[in-house]
Amino acid sequence: MKSIGARLAICYVLASTITFAALFLTGRYFVEYHAIHALDLVIHSEFEQIRANVAALGPTPPEAALRERMQAVTRNDLELFFTEIYGPGGTIVYRSPGLRGFDMIPSARDQEFNVNLAGLDELRAGKFALGPYTVVIATTKHHVRVVMSGYERTFYGLLLVMIAVSSVIGYGFSRMALRPLRLIQDTADRIRSDNLSERIPVSSARDEISDLARLLNQMFDRLEESFTQIRRFTAEASHELKTPLTLVRLQAEKLVVDGQLTPAQEHAVQIQIKELAQLNRIIEDLLFLSRADACAITLDLRQQDPEPFLQSFAQDAHVLAEYREQRFNLTHHGAGQVAIEPKWIRQVLLNLLSNALSASPPGSRVTVRSTLVNRCWQVRVEDEGPGVPAEQRERIFERFVRINRPGNEDKGSGLGLAICRSIVALHGGRIFAEAGPGGHGLSMVFEIPATTSPDDAGSVPFGTPHLTDAA
Ligand SMILES: Nc1ncnc2c1ncn2[C@@H]1O[C@H](COP(=O)(O)OP(=O)(O)OP(=O)(O)O)[C@@H](O)[C@H]1O
Ligand SMILES: [Mg+2]
Repeated sequence: MKSIGARLAICYVLASTITFAALFLTGRYFVEYHAIHALDLVIHSEFEQIRANVAALGPTPPEAALRERMQAVTRNDLELFFTEIYGPGGTIVYRSPGLRGFDMIPSARDQEFNVNLAGLDELRAGKFALGPYTVVIATTKHHVRVVMSGYERTFYGLLLVMIAVSSVIGYGFSRMALRPLRLIQDTADRIRSDNLSERIPVSSARDEISDLARLLNQMFDRLEESFTQIRRFTAEASHELKTPLTLVRLQAEKLVVDGQLTPAQEHAVQIQIKELAQLNRIIEDLLFLSRADACAITLDLRQQDPEPFLQSFAQDAHVLAEYREQRFNLTHHGAGQVAIEPKWIRQVLLNLLSNALSASPPGSRVTVRSTLVNRCWQVRVEDEGPGVPAEQRERIFERFVRINRPGNEDKGSGLGLAICRSIVALHGGRIFAEAGPGGHGLSMVFEIPATTSPDDAGSVPFGTPHLTDAA
C-alpha cells in the first residue's frame, strides 16, 4: 500500500480492534465466572435447605425415610434443581424424576463441576456430604448461556460501531499527522529552477518534521546558490567569449576577402567561418537563456490578431520547405486578439519549423494549424517524420538534449526547444510535444492566453484552411 496515511489509519483500526477484543475476552471470562459462582451459591443454599429438612431424621437417616423426605422437600423445586443421593456403597438412594434415569456421576476431584446429560441443558452441579450419603445437586446453566450470548451480541454490535468510529478517527488522525509532510511536499513541488527562492514553512515546534523542513530549506539554500553561480558563470562566459569570437571571425573573413589563399587554405578557412558562426549562435542562445533565467528579458507585448503575422511567417516557411524539397501548409481559424511580441514568436515558429523540416524526409509535409478559440491561441506544428518516443517528449525541452538518429546530419546544439519554452513562458503560455495525427510524426504545440470573440468558438471546423495553403 502506497499511502502512509492509509497505513496509519489501518494500524490504528487494527490496534483498537485487538484491544477491544482482548477486553471482551477478559470481560467475558469474568462475567461467566461470576455467573457460575452465583449458581454455585444457589446450589449451596439448596443443599442447606435439604440438610435442614432432613436433620429431624438424625445423623444417619435410613434410606427409605430419606427418600420419602426428599420427595417431599424437592417437590416444589423440581423444575429448578436436579438432586441425586448416593448411599455409602455408591447405590442410588434418591434421584429427581427430571434426570430421566441418568446418573450425574459426581466428580471425584471437584466440589463443583459441570454435567452433560443427553437431552438436557448443560448443568452446574455441587457435591455435598450428608452423614454417610453423598448429595449431588445440579441446576441448569441455561441462564448463564443467555447472559453470555447477550454479552456476545452486544460485543459484535459494539465492535462494528468501534471499527466505524476508529476508521474515522484513524483517518482524521493520519491526515493531521501527515499535514506538515503534505505542506513540505507541496512546497518542494513548487520549487523549481525558475522558483528557487521559495522555502518550506517551518513550525516553531522542534519536532522531527520541523527538523526535516529546516534541513530541506538548507539544501534549497545551497541549490539556489549553486544555480546562481552557474547562471552567472554562463552569462559571463558567454559574454566574454562573444568579442574574441567576433574578432576571430572577422580575421578569417578578411583572409578570404584578401584572396591570397590557396584553394585548400580557403576551403579550410570557410569551414572555420561556418563553425564560428555556429559557435556564435550557441553563445547567443546561452546568453538569451541566462537572461531569461534571471528574468532580465522584458517583452514588448501588443494585442494583435495573429493572422497577419502568421501570413508573413508562412511566406518564409514556404521558401524554407521548398529548399528542403518538402511542402508547407498553414491553416487558421477563429478570431480574436493575442498579446505577443512577434519577433519572439517568430523565433519559436522558426525553430519548430526547422526541427520539423530536418526530422522529416523529402516530399513530406509540415503543417502549422492555428486556432484562436476559447480564450486560447493554439499553434500546432505537425510533421511526418519519425516522431519522438513518448518518454523523451519532455526531455527534448531540456538544454543540450538531442536525439541523434542515423541519417540526420543536422548539427543543432539542442538549445532551440529550451529557448522556445522560455519565450512561450514569457508570454504566459506553455509548449509541449505530442504524437502527430494518427500517431505518425510529431506535433509540437504551444498555447498562449488570448481574447477570443465569443461567437467564434467552434464556428469553423478545426483545420478549415482560410489563410494560406502553400504546397
Ligand atoms: N519535429 C521533430 N521530430 C523529431 N525530433 C525532434 C523534432 N523536434 C525536435 N526533435 C528532437 O529534439 C531535439 C532538440 O531540439 P532542439 O530544437 O532543442 O535542438 P536542435 O534542433 O537539435 O538544435 P538547435 O535548435 O539548438 O539548433 C532535436 O535534436 C531532435 O532530436
Ligand atoms: Mg532546433
